[in-house]
Amino acid sequence: MYATANQVLRNARFSSRRAVSYVLGIETSCDDTGIAIVDTAGKVHANVLESQQEFHTRYGGIIPPRAQDLHRARIADAFERCLAESQLQPEQLAAIAVTTRPGLPLSLVVGLRYARHLARRHQKPLLAVHHMEAHALQARMEHIEDLQYPYLCLLISGGHSQLAMVYGPGRLTLLGETLDDAPGEAFDKIARRLRLYVLPQYRLWNGGRAVEHAAQFARNPDAYEFPLPLARQRNCNFSFAGIKNNAFRAIRHQERNERTPVDGIISNYSDFCAGLLRAVSRHLMHRTQRALEFCLQPEMNLFGQAPPTLVVSGGVANNDVIFANLEHLAKQYNCRCFRPSKRYCSDNGVMIAWHGIEQLQHGIKPVSSHDVDNIQVEGSAGFHESAMERLQEAAIKCRWVQPL
Ligand code: KG4
Ligand code: ZN
Repeated sequence: MYATANQVLRNARFSSRRAVSYVLGIETSCDDTGIAIVDTAGKVHANVLESQQEFHTRYGGIIPPRAQDLHRARIADAFERCLAESQLQPEQLAAIAVTTRPGLPLSLVVGLRYARHLARRHQKPLLAVHHMEAHALQARMEHIEDLQYPYLCLLISGGHSQLAMVYGPGRLTLLGETLDDAPGEAFDKIARRLRLYVLPQYRLWNGGRAVEHAAQFARNPDAYEFPLPLARQRNCNFSFAGIKNNAFRAIRHQERNERTPVDGIISNYSDFCAGLLRAVSRHLMHRTQRALEFCLQPEMNLFGQAPPTLVVSGGVANNDVIFANLEHLAKQYNCRCFRPSKRYCSDNGVMIAWHGIEQLQHGIKPVSSHDVDNIQVEGSAGFHESAMERLQEAAIKCRWVQPL
């Protein structure tokens, strides 16, 4: 299934020197309808993103059948806008890439059906994309010259928290994952419970972004302390449920003390957000530090000849405080640190198109337009392999790098 390294290089050189080819990417795994066209040199020719944030904010969370309705209502128009923006014709596309896993099945199926329809109509091959892999590979689009495989990737989003070694499309090795909530999910739930949305500037923002902004205005950033999850477990797993429950308790306690009205917000919400952000950063740093030490162990040497590199991706990678802390951590290990541009950290069609390009360049065969019914959606999907047991056995004890 995979091409040799030499073939890959030849293909990559071929595509960058000769005519570029274009891949359409369709993303509907959750609540964003994203359609984009990217070429083999990493140039983005169109990027259409229809967010459902405003709708779901009104109902306090994503309602899958409503998310499906909104994808259905918007997808054809998003495709037309994408074509117009790129000034390309469907005939010029080399392939159509679509997210098939993991995600909300009702949402995924809208993108897949539309991709099948386009593939048949325009006789184009179809590429099935793993959403979290697409997040993991996205930084390469903008750093193609200096971001080689393999690298360590921290994937932090609304649905996932994972550490993985990335060797190429379809070739990720899991090192750790969350045992309960994802960090974005924790930010969203805590921000809602805190009622940050009563402040007009945060009404339509996701929880993570609102917490990051509010934290900047903290007068007493040490006012709130949160527990450090999984402190005794010498692996790279994550847990955010403890921080979340602790946050709920602290809010309730403060509301009682201040007699906060039911549609009001505690007075020192900025201090609270600063404490929360510090706790999440610290937990992410700890787990990533152990993963880095594991990869760098001489007997493991997982980076091989490549320079040690950490990539941070997914919606939570938008967070400057979290990223600065991880960059600081990486530096202590002479490890480079990248993230995609902010517009590509969160869900979008560009990362799906780019994953499609990587698949083609690594010799992964697309599905022909006659066989598109063979592709199905999968609500959950793991990676190619896992090194979690080996990592647990290594039981690495770290001297913790302190947050900035
Ligand atoms: O990757 P993404 O767009 O969708 C999923 O695949 O889940 O991530 C969305 C998550 C949301 O939970 C949101 O709260 C979080 O990313 N997020 C942030 C920031 N911007 C978005 N979290 C922390 N800080 C931010 N600036
Ligand atoms: Zn995502």
